[in-house]
Amino acid sequence: MKTNPFFAQIKTKLGTPAYETSNIAIYQGDCLELMSKLPNQSVDLTITSPPYNIGKEYVRQLDRYLDWCETWIKEIYRLTHSFGAFWLNLGYLEIPGKAKAIPIPYLLWDRSPFYLIQEVVWNYGAGVACRHQFSPRNEKFLWYVKDPNNYLFHLDKIRDPNVKYPNQKKNGKLKCNPLGKNPTDVWQFPKVTSGKKRSSIERTAHPAQFPVNVIDRIVKGCSQENHLILDPFMGSGSTAEAAIRNKRYVIGFEIEEKYIGYIATRIENYLEQK
Ligand SMILES: C[S@@+](CC[C@H](N)C(=O)[O-])C[C@H]1O[C@@H](n2cnc3c(N)ncnc32)[C@H](O)[C@@H]1O
Repeated sequence: MKTNPFFAQIKTKLGTPAYETSNIAIYQGDCLELMSKLPNQSVDLTITSPPYNIGKEYVRQLDRYLDWCETWIKEIYRLTHSFGAFWLNLGYLEIPGKAKAIPIPYLLWDRSPFYLIQEVVWNYGAGVACRHQFSPRNEKFLWYVKDPNNYLFHLDKIRDPNVKYPNQKKNGKLKCNPLGKNPTDVWQFPKVTSGKKRSSIERTAHPAQFPVNVIDRIVKGCSQENHLILDPFMGSGSTAEAAIRNKRYVIGFEIEEKYIGYIATRIENYLEQK
């Protein structure tokens, strides 16, 4: 695997990681503090999901929460390479008297220095059943870039091979790309489930784990081999697994010590199976 120009430099600045492999470095601590030590434009792609299950306590402190989000989004912007991208998954919160579940990006829309390319809907098959509203079956990913005229998008790496009429021709030429169709802005991937009989194989004990296949598509489409990927809210390490599956380097931050253990076990299991 080719080296990444910033990976070793970042490790020198941050010291010994809490967990590492040849292309992963995970640090335990507050991401704002850790990110402040990284050089400008050292990261090619950031994929993250911050804590947002913030409950009533935080709703009273909504402005503080939004200010905090603005601060780390601006820090990610500083760290992002000029052709780099930032994929953000943010959920909903209740605002008493106003909304049962307001999408948090609505509250942040004008606070980000990034350029928004697209909102991608992740549609999962199963979830909570509801009687007084539609059962929620989606989460959103916001795809931001630094420069709308110069960003990576490797469509051929992520085409969907599931084409209904792959051999249909027009004027003797195949109508559909032989690699498959554009996967569109609605992605169908099953959720990571728990429970005795229905637990996903990839399940860790983390309560908010992404399916690795969602992250895999982002990594393939928006970065290339030996690029450096950052996840400042690493959780169970889904971004780390997707990054190493695709020969990328990854720097991750996680504040909770016990989650570092989950990440280590998960990566060791992946490497063993491989
Ligand atoms: C929504 S979860 C991320 C889940 C992750 N995407 C996955 O697939 O497992 C957010 C994570 O951010 C961590 N976190 C919260 N505040 C943090 C901070 N200031 N710095 C670093 N990590 C933080 C939490 O402990 C939690 O594990």
